[in-house]
Amino acid sequence: LEPQDRELAEAAIEATKGSYAPYSGFNVGAAVRLDSGLIIKGSNQENAAYPSGTCAERTAMFYASAAYPDNAMVSIAVTASQNGNLCVNPATPCGACRQVMAQYQTKGGRPMSILLVGDGKIWKFEKVDDILPLIFDSI
Ligand code: THU
Repeated sequence: LEPQDRELAEAAIEATKGSYAPYSGFNVGAAVRLDSGLIIKGSNQENAAYPSGTCAERTAMFYASAAYPDNAMVSIAVTASQNGNLCVNPATPCGACRQVMAQYQTKGGRPMSILLVGDGKIWKFEKVDDILPLIFDSI
């Protein structure tokens, strides 16, 4: 793994510590790299009103866009742990998070790469189109 990807994967693992998942026990961490080099972390935040909770990826991306609206997101890493142990299989983003990735990729005007991080196994995709075919981007 390139040093920048390794750093982002480690930030995603670090981000799982902020997860609030009392219902699923599935602690997801995400880390977004901005074009400035800054890394923004997010984690899943659950709620007793289940649909009010949000995924790690959207927590990170919404924070990145809200706090740094002029910076493109160049990469996002995602990982998950259960009972304090990194999951063996890489966490794969839900459809809603892929759609949100797609739009921030368009907003940023450059490809957003995706790193799905498991314990000893990492899948890398160069752009959102590779994990979301037929992207909806027009209204
Ligand atoms: N979750 C994420 O945060 N990201 C994913 O990619 C998959 C699912 C969260 C949502 C919920 O808090 C928990 O994992 C179980 O679905």
